[in-house]
Amino acid sequence: MTPPASRQICERCGNALAELDASPACPACGGLLELEHAPPDDSIDLRARFAARRGAVAGIDVSGVWRYRELVLPTASSAEIVSHPEGNTPLLDRAAVATWAGIEHLLMKHEGHNPTGSFKDRGMTVAMTQARRTRARAVACASTGNTSASLAAYAAQAELPALVFVPAGKVAMGKLAQTMAYGALTLVVRGTFDDCLTLARGSSAALGVQLLNSVNPFRIEGQKTIVLELLEQLAWDAPDWIALPAGNLGNTSAFGKALREARSLGLIPRVPRLAAIQASGAAPFAHSFANGFAERITVQPETVATAIRIGAPASWDRAVRAIRETNGVVAAVSDEEMLAAKAVIDAAGVGCEPASAASVAGVRALRARGVIGAHERVVSVLTGNLLKDPESLVRYHQETEPAPAGANRPVEIESTVRAVERALDTFLGARGLRAG
Ligand code: F0G
Repeated sequence: MTPPASRQICERCGNALAELDASPACPACGGLLELEHAPPDDSIDLRARFAARRGAVAGIDVSGVWRYRELVLPTASSAEIVSHPEGNTPLLDRAAVATWAGIEHLLMKHEGHNPTGSFKDRGMTVAMTQARRTRARAVACASTGNTSASLAAYAAQAELPALVFVPAGKVAMGKLAQTMAYGALTLVVRGTFDDCLTLARGSSAALGVQLLNSVNPFRIEGQKTIVLELLEQLAWDAPDWIALPAGNLGNTSAFGKALREARSLGLIPRVPRLAAIQASGAAPFAHSFANGFAERITVQPETVATAIRIGAPASWDRAVRAIRETNGVVAAVSDEEMLAAKAVIDAAGVGCEPASAASVAGVRALRARGVIGAHERVVSVLTGNLLKDPESLVRYHQETEPAPAGANRPVEIESTVRAVERALDTFLGARGLRAG
């Protein structure tokens, strides 16, 4: 049997390109490309097929991305696939977080459990596979940290040279460390993420390097599996809402496409509403939403959440489509709200990076405004790992004066049992607990 065909379609003018065409954008109009796969044969029970693969112990079925390959990149052969593996992230239920958000049924899909610590690995395995299939001589990305670490790791596995552009002073130390360790050429650019993306696009075109940012349609295909996997974990009983942090809008676009396809293939009978949450200092998409998406806005971004410190999101049009098709909403939360959510998520033993906490802070804010009902079922996507940014954690817990709420100071002591006892007494006393 010949494998089903896939094509790349320009979102703007409808121009069609072959699947193996490595153009970064539509050669006719410059629009972003989107993948379209021939639908699987009607006789195939996709749910049963996906479920059967869950028990795999070897091969590409072990990946939480490639297990869904009919909807990701059906023509890629096992030998071509560059997989860590990735995905298979947990759906977590923590009463303390749900209570804080004011929602009875709140689950967290923790993408920080991916191999390099963020959801980017799901898109990167597909984009790197495609880079190898199209014989790329090198790969590149602009990044606020997570994409660069992911690109560097997968490029190392694929044995391709990697080039990353990160904004000077605005990339978390944990991610920079990973990127260097995996061996990428790391260019620290004096400018914002938006400047880095412009430079990465220009240099890739000029130097014949493949750009693997989420403007690359293969990234989007991989990131769709966050939604497919969470739906499968819920036995295809879709929640009412899926909330996620929104920066460059690749993930918002991927979620919209996943839901559209899952619905049209009959995997789910109805589509959950998307809640895309931005930081209030970097909220062009939220401002535009408030105005019915009447215009495309750019801002000078500022927020502690470096991952979403983005003022000119690249995947704008497809994210607008995702919000419209899901009857979704876009909201913004302050840095204080985000850090308060993060403190609750961290203290529940889950932990996430600041940008990820926007998805829980946003749910609380939308609940307070009556947009989300108290009894509606919500999944918040935590996009990255707690240890992305150890510097800011140490600053928060150890160095900030006066100590902020929830600060957990380390205590230096003499090497005696008596000193341990005193420290333990103070610790328990502060929490209203008694020693012994
Ligand atoms: N959450 C995390 C942890 C991220 O790293 C990013 C983006 C986002 C959310 C926003 O997702 O851009 O698809 O809307 N990080 C990019 C990077 C910019 O370079 O790692 P988006």
